[in-house]
Amino acid sequence: MSKRIVYYEHGGPEVLRWEDETVPEPAHGQVLVRNEMIGVNPIDWKLVAGVFKSDPAPFPGTPGWASTGIIEAVGEGVNNFAVGQAVIVDSRARLAVTSGSRAGTFREYLAVDTRQIVARPPDVSIEQAAGLPSSAVAGYSMVHHLGITEDDTLLVHGAAGGVGSAAVQVAVARGARVIGTASPANHDYLRSLGAHPVDYTADMVEVIRKLGPITASADAVGGAASVAATVTLLPAGGGAVTAWGDEHSQAASIPWVRHPDDELHQVAKLAAQGVLNIRIAETLPLSEAAVALERSRTGHSPGKILLQP
Ligand SMILES: NC(=O)c1ccc[n+]([C@@H]2O[C@H](COP(=O)([O-])OP(=O)(O)OC[C@H]3O[C@@H](n4cnc5c(N)ncnc54)[C@H](OP(=O)(O)O)[C@@H]3O)[C@@H](O)[C@H]2O)c1
Repeated sequence: MSKRIVYYEHGGPEVLRWEDETVPEPAHGQVLVRNEMIGVNPIDWKLVAGVFKSDPAPFPGTPGWASTGIIEAVGEGVNNFAVGQAVIVDSRARLAVTSGSRAGTFREYLAVDTRQIVARPPDVSIEQAAGLPSSAVAGYSMVHHLGITEDDTLLVHGAAGGVGSAAVQVAVARGARVIGTASPANHDYLRSLGAHPVDYTADMVEVIRKLGPITASADAVGGAASVAATVTLLPAGGGAVTAWGDEHSQAASIPWVRHPDDELHQVAKLAAQGVLNIRIAETLPLSEAAVALERSRTGHSPGKILLQP
């Protein structure tokens, strides 16, 4: 037997249960991964809360889109991964919907489609690897989507979070100038990444304007204030993208980020090269997933929250 986090109804973190399950057999095209570390993302508490009305996942559900671990068994038809190999798992909805299920990562053992894993580079720690899927891939994808180059000045809303800090690091590595919004407690962190920090107060637009014109905007926050700032500051022809499409970004015709198929591979490579570094806030036992989701739900965790099986 192994352990997993499970929920039987939508709600807050209090609906999570800690239960036994049979170790799954990998089906055709799947591998069995023994999780070594699990990454927590805002999508986890949102799915448990039932934010997405079209969520196809039936109850009982297990949260989690991100983990890293060791392959313990391979299913039929798998010839590109082997037992004993270290991998990173990104249980993205797009693939999960295609394959008819979403096997959440908040469990000790996980049977997962090989299209949802990449090899973990030897130079990437298990903590860094678990922190890459979902948030860092979204940050990378936003910069890729916008085609950021050294000629750009990129405004990143929510620059201190998992998505925003990845966008900052990838854009800086491409030679762009980056202005990032965050609360003052995170300004030294943003400077250490090479970004110009700006507080997201009422005069945010004027403060950013004084730093010079922007050419593109990547929004990892959403909401009225961030979208209004982008609309006011972005010149005609400038690119904008959001990681959290809501009524405000839709009204402003700001698209939800497009994810390239090789995003997880690219992000793992950038982590191995030292371009991407995930800030870790804390590591909790998997059994304390409810505490982790509650902290993620605040929207102000000082870095990635990890769960150890
Ligand atoms: N489309 C996708 O593929 C995708 C993937 C991953 C995540 N997302 C979405 O992207 C969003 C961010 O995710 P995340 O993983 O980066 O979350 P996170 O790690 O929890 O970070 C949230 C960050 O937002 C900052 N923040 C909060 N309010 C802000 C405001 N008004 N202005 C500027 N910054 C603000 C916080 O900084 P301070 O503490 O300094 O306030 C914090 O650093 C979530 O909505 C998530 O669901 C989308």
